[in-house]
Amino acid sequence: MYRIAVIPGDGIGLEVCAAALRVLAALDVAERFEYETFPWGSAHYLSTGQMMPADALDTLADFDAILFGAVGSREVPDHVTLWGLRLAIVQGFDQGVSLRPARLLEGVRGPLAGRGPEDVDLVVVRENTEGEYSGIGGFTRRGLPGEVAVQTTVYSHDAIARTARYAFELARSRDARHVTSVTKSNASPHASVLWDEVVASVAAEFTDVTWESALVDAAAARLVLAPQEFDVIVASNLHGDILSDLTGALAGSLGMAPSANLSLDRSRPSMFEPVHGSAFDLVGRGLANPIGMVLSAALMLDDLGLVQSAERVRDAVASVCAAGVLTADVGGHATTDDVASAIVAALRR
Ligand code: NAD
Ligand code: IPM
Ligand code: MN
Repeated sequence: MYRIAVIPGDGIGLEVCAAALRVLAALDVAERFEYETFPWGSAHYLSTGQMMPADALDTLADFDAILFGAVGSREVPDHVTLWGLRLAIVQGFDQGVSLRPARLLEGVRGPLAGRGPEDVDLVVVRENTEGEYSGIGGFTRRGLPGEVAVQTTVYSHDAIARTARYAFELARSRDARHVTSVTKSNASPHASVLWDEVVASVAAEFTDVTWESALVDAAAARLVLAPQEFDVIVASNLHGDILSDLTGALAGSLGMAPSANLSLDRSRPSMFEPVHGSAFDLVGRGLANPIGMVLSAALMLDDLGLVQSAERVRDAVASVCAAGVLTADVGGHATTDDVASAIVAALRR
């Protein structure tokens, strides 16, 4: 049996989570999953003053995986919702890498003229616990005309090395076997320079993988102009965050983009969630694309060792896209539930 903690969160997180659970229930391994759903998020905060209970990490530690929808509400500041829930879990469980694949699927019209599925098949490997997200900093002279805020970026050799090693091992398993390490070494002479040095030393262990270093601004432009040149992108926490919205868009929509926050030593549960947020503009309208969440559930299946089931889910998603059962963000007229039903039907065929 696998014990799965489900945290739907806020907004369309609830809608896409429900869709992913329908897909998982249609698998032949469905009876091996035991779910517990936790009602944590902004509504919980408004009624209790906390995004999740103080002992939430102890509770979650007993599970094999966490399925997470999205968090964010117009009624609670974003830094409160994110640091109180998503980032508290990612950092508290030391989920060192965020894996963010992006593929343009047949049937989905991407945003780039003249580009097709053969041009967009890449993965962002994002450092997930420190960097610009260290949370270290503070205010001084708060509320006065001269107020100052300091936000510190922290990089450790160990976190860079484990992220780079994950990226190179992943590249080794892919056809293109290529890594692009993204930094801002021209303007960031400490953190990015350490990043470059550590990535180079890890790269030396992988003589069967080609690699290059690219500046983040140039890499952003090149992703649009020549996405086919990318295979595995390894980047710092903030760079990886920004580039993975871009690569999601290259796959047709942010709604198509999955992610896995991986506990690399497997001592704590990993967390699987779409790249997108709670999408205030879509809530309650049946417009949310569930595919990012469904493909995140497939990444969970991979991580649990249910690789064939994961492939079946990806194949079902691909066939539904090829058949044109698409939500509005990717040019279709289907609802969230229509897409989930079509994926379930494809799995049953
Ligand atoms: P967002 O990802 O929620 O939405 C950005 C755009 O993408 C919107 O136009 C939205 O309609 C569209 N979109 C997102 N998901 C979609 C889907 N499944 N199908 C179709 N279209 C989709 O980002 P935002 O608007 O910047 O943030 C909204 C809230 O979500 C904020 O509170 C933010 O902090 C939070 N957020 C949370 C997470 C998370 O929980 N992991 C991630 C990103 C943003
Ligand atoms: C993501 C999100 C989060 C991040 C935010 C909401 C804190 O944008 O998962 O990409 O930047 O990590
Ligand atoms: Mn993001």
